[in-house]
Amino acid sequence: MKSVRSDAVSRRRVLKGAATVAVASSVPTGWAIAQAKPLKVGLMLPYSGTFAKLGENITFAVEILLAEKGGKLGGREVQIVKLDDESKPENGPQNAERLVKRDAVDVLIGTVHSGVQMGIHKVVRESGTLCIVPNAGANAVTRELCAKNVFRTSFTNWQPAHGMGLALGKRGIKKAAWITWDYAAGAESGDGFKEGLAKHGGEVVKTLTLKFPETNFQPLLAQIPDLGVEAVGSFFAGGGAIQFVKEYKAAGIKVPLCGSGFLTEGVLGPQGDAAEGIETALHYGDGVDNPKNAAFRKAFKDKTQRDADVYAVKGYDAAQLLALGLEAVKGNLEDEANLYKAMRSAKFDSPRGAVSISPSQDIVHNIYLRRAEKGENKVVGIAAESLADPGTGCKL
Ligand code: PHB
Repeated sequence: MKSVRSDAVSRRRVLKGAATVAVASSVPTGWAIAQAKPLKVGLMLPYSGTFAKLGENITFAVEILLAEKGGKLGGREVQIVKLDDESKPENGPQNAERLVKRDAVDVLIGTVHSGVQMGIHKVVRESGTLCIVPNAGANAVTRELCAKNVFRTSFTNWQPAHGMGLALGKRGIKKAAWITWDYAAGAESGDGFKEGLAKHGGEVVKTLTLKFPETNFQPLLAQIPDLGVEAVGSFFAGGGAIQFVKEYKAAGIKVPLCGSGFLTEGVLGPQGDAAEGIETALHYGDGVDNPKNAAFRKAFKDKTQRDADVYAVKGYDAAQLLALGLEAVKGNLEDEANLYKAMRSAKFDSPRGAVSISPSQDIVHNIYLRRAEKGENKVVGIAAESLADPGTGCKL
């Protein structure tokens, strides 16, 4: 069986070959041939399971940006190919290969779950396919395993939780616990939280975990009152976060719950009163006041009849970054040097505020401190301004 890389390389060779013939016979160049073809964009996202709504919102937002651009990026028609990754890490590499090899996508936008991301990452590093990460925070993707063809418009797991740890530390919290699913996003968010607290002399005295995507929270909740902590930090998201917040409240635990902002993002409706007063830190929030956000929220509401959330914002920004790169090379993905240069130096207006791309190709953004009040994640301050991930181990 041919490797993914050899397929991609041979695709490029065919185009380069076409270019050579073109000069001699003045038929269209390889670039012109490529440009005349629609640009195939693969969306590898969860459309089922606990993260289904996250994947849907990212998709809607990509479609909004495309509609704003008249369906074209860098002058090329865009064709979307969707694949439901079900947030199953074991199927990650195979699903990514289906998009890259079978469907021959030019660009892969994906995904939500950090474990699945690692499968995508292996495939796109080998094939050289341009990949934009619209959610998954797996640190390694823009740290030791960074790659010139991989960009992220979401966050590293470290970033939001670090902001939360800093905010607690600043107000003098000395002992906290961390509770989460036992996989990369939970563990790496926990590290960010711990480091933030430690900057002000606080510590995490206990970490409680359960397997992803299990929701048997009771045995863990039962331990909290005896831990002697002043705060409980957490990472949960999607359907799991709804249930966790409700059960935390129902358990009558007096220790305040906080977390990486996904805990209350896009789920305040079903969480109801149980979420009231919960503080979180995230790169978005209700009340972020700028014209881009106002326009985006309106477009999202008009299209979906629901309110935009952080997932929608990151999907929109994945498409914004792609548009910006393709416009710089007039749709010619073969011009990798200029494509990556434009994307690496991108500074643009996101609905979350002004953002830029770090040397390890992750996003640099404010981490807002929010408080859940009457169905809104109200921004109450900035936990970390223009926070860049350290990008440890990335050599680009
Ligand atoms: C992740 O697995 O990286 C992840 C999943 C859901 C979120 C945030 C991060 O809301």
